[in-house]
Amino acid sequence: MNSHTNLTQFIIEQQRANSQSTDDLSGLMNDIASACKKISHLVNRSGIIGIGGAAESENVQGEVQKELDIITNDVMVDHLNWTGHLAAMASEEIEEIIQIPAHLPKGKYLISFDPLDGSSNIDINLSVGTIFSILRCPEGTTEPTVEDFKQKGTEQVCAGFCVYGPTTMMILTTGNGVDGFTLDHDVGEFILTHPKMTIPEDTAEFAINMSNQRFWEPPVQRYIDECIKGVDGGREKNFNMRWVASMVAEVYRVLTRGGVFLYPLDNKPTTQGGKLRLMYEASPMAFIVEQAGGVCSTGRERILDIIPEGVHQRVPVILGSKNEVERIISYHQE
Ligand code: AHG
Ligand code: MN
Ligand code: MN
Repeated sequence: MNSHTNLTQFIIEQQRANSQSTDDLSGLMNDIASACKKISHLVNRSGIIGIGGAAESENVQGEVQKELDIITNDVMVDHLNWTGHLAAMASEEIEEIIQIPAHLPKGKYLISFDPLDGSSNIDINLSVGTIFSILRCPEGTTEPTVEDFKQKGTEQVCAGFCVYGPTTMMILTTGNGVDGFTLDHDVGEFILTHPKMTIPEDTAEFAINMSNQRFWEPPVQRYIDECIKGVDGGREKNFNMRWVASMVAEVYRVLTRGGVFLYPLDNKPTTQGGKLRLMYEASPMAFIVEQAGGVCSTGRERILDIIPEGVHQRVPVILGSKNEVERIISYHQE
C-alpha cells in the first residue's frame, strides 16, 4: 500500500483481505470519518464562531458540559443515525441509549462514543478528540436496549479515536493491527500516514494525575514512587512524566513512543471505581493498545474481559508499554 492510501480504500482493501462483506462496516467508518471531519472543523473554529465556552448543563456523570460537548454529540448523532448502518448508539453525553428514528432504516452495528474527549482542554487550546467502539447488534434484535450493549471489549468489531491536535488524526483497529491516518484538509480525506503502529515494550515515561496521589492504592503508590526515584530507588533508569488530561493525546503518545498511562482506582469521593468510562474510553483504547502490542488492565483484570454493568460504568485504567504495565499488575498481585 502506498503512502497515499485513503481511509475508504484502506477499509475496503482490509475487508477484502479478510473476506468479510465490504459494505456495512466500511460505510459506517465513512460516516464516522465524516462526523470527525466536521468536529475537527468546529473545534478549530470554536473561538471564531463563539462555541468554545461552558454550557449551563451537566451530563449523566454530573460533569459540567462544555458547549462543544453538546454540539459534537449532535454532530455524531446527526451523521450516524440516518445511514442505515447502526441499530442504536450510546454517548457519554446522553443517559439513555440513542435509538434510530422509527422512519429510518436500521443496521447491524451498535456504537458507543465519547464525542469530545478532554473537553476541559478546549479553553486552553490543547488537543481534544473523539473515541468510538463498534459492536455487533445481537441477531434478531430490532429495538436494542442497554443489555445489548453489555458485551465484553473482546467483542468489538472496530475501535478508534480521532485527535484534534496540531494535525487531525484518526487511529483505527479492526483487529488486524493499528493504523493512523492524517486528515488532509485540502482534499478532505484521511490519508494513511502511520501504518502498523506498535508500542515499544519498554519505556521510561509515565502519565498520571499526581494531584490524586493521596487517594491511590499501595501498588500504584509503590510504582510511581519507584519511577520518581529512578536509578536512586532501584530502577535501572530515570523516568520522565507527562499529563495532558486528554486520554486521546496520551494514548497517541503511547502509540508513538511508548509510555505508561494510569487513571487508577482511588478513594477520591468523586471518582470511586475509576474515572474513565468503560464503553467509550477504556474498552476502545484497550483494543487499540493490545493490537499495537501493549497491555491494558485495571491492575487486577484485563479491560477487554470486563462484562459491562452499564453503558456509563467507570473503570480504573492502566495501559501502555507491555513490560511496565505487567510490572504494575504484578504489584497488584503481591
Ligand atoms: P472527558 O473530557 O470526555 O470527560 O474525558 C476526560 C478524561 C480523559 O480524557 C483524561 O485522561 C481525564 O479525564 C483527565 O482527568 P483529570 O482532569 O482528573 O486529570
Ligand atoms: Mn473522555
Ligand atoms: Mn467527553
